[in-house]
Amino acid sequence: MKYRVLALQLVMLGINTFVLYAQGSIMNYEHKSLTKNTMDTNDNGFIVIAHRGARAYYPENTMAAFRAAIDFDAEMLELDVQLSKDNIPVIFHDTKLDKKTNGSGFVSDYTLEQLQELDAGSWFDEKFKGEKIPTLVELLEYARGRISVNIEIKTEAVKDVALYNSENSVEKQVVALIKALGMKSSVMVSSFDYRAVKRIKELDPEIYTALLYEKEQSNGLNPKELVDLYHVDAFNCSGRELNRKWLDILNHNEIPFFVYTINEATQMKKVIEAGAKGIFSDKPDLLKQVSDEMFPSKTE
Ligand code: G3P
Ligand code: MG
Repeated sequence: MKYRVLALQLVMLGINTFVLYAQGSIMNYEHKSLTKNTMDTNDNGFIVIAHRGARAYYPENTMAAFRAAIDFDAEMLELDVQLSKDNIPVIFHDTKLDKKTNGSGFVSDYTLEQLQELDAGSWFDEKFKGEKIPTLVELLEYARGRISVNIEIKTEAVKDVALYNSENSVEKQVVALIKALGMKSSVMVSSFDYRAVKRIKELDPEIYTALLYEKEQSNGLNPKELVDLYHVDAFNCSGRELNRKWLDILNHNEIPFFVYTINEATQMKKVIEAGAKGIFSDKPDLLKQVSDEMFPSKTE
């Protein structure tokens, strides 16, 4: 059954790809492009990242939140990916459905069909009733040609090596989708599970990857040592974790770094001044305003 769903997804992908090319929407659109170790940008290079969409104002990780982030002129969407019971990559942050939908229990205990019957909007506000849990393919198709995407692979979806090799793993599916949609230059893949980013790089070295700092797996290594060990392109960490020593190492070695989750203007300024390549914010509109003020040439 899961293969039938996957096959259907791929057929839809093919049709949609053809339609988009026919409309010329891919060719005509200019957006920020990520390449190995550098990011081609049309301006100062700083990237406004909408954390789970415009999460401060919309139910997180829904199409409404992603559409709003684009309207706010964010430059990248951050989203969290895990697998449904029938192994379809879906966009949802929490391990359990209870807080952010009208369902309950683990996401991974429900098929895609069951997940899509849930209401992922009302918990935030009645006016978002009917918002659904999007699939990764649905979001990527929507984002393509419009905005860059950070796919964060949730730890829950990452399996040990035996299952990784035998199953339709999240890493293999993420890589297949990025390639099928021709989105290598506009996607960053990250994970708190270091196995996932390592596997993504092994599957396709051209895909831009970032380590999401996780103390337990880091064995006291510094950001430069971690980036080298896992062959990633960037280092992502929380604002709380960022410290002077790390900043010196990151900036000295010209390692791009991205910081989450910053929602205050004064903190945004500090992190931008510290040299961050991008910030994850629940308020991409505020971050856009702050970064535009700090880089006036960007708005000229
Ligand atoms: O990728 C940045 C941030 O999203 C990581 O934390 O828990 O919000 O997914 P979390
Ligand atoms: Mg996330």
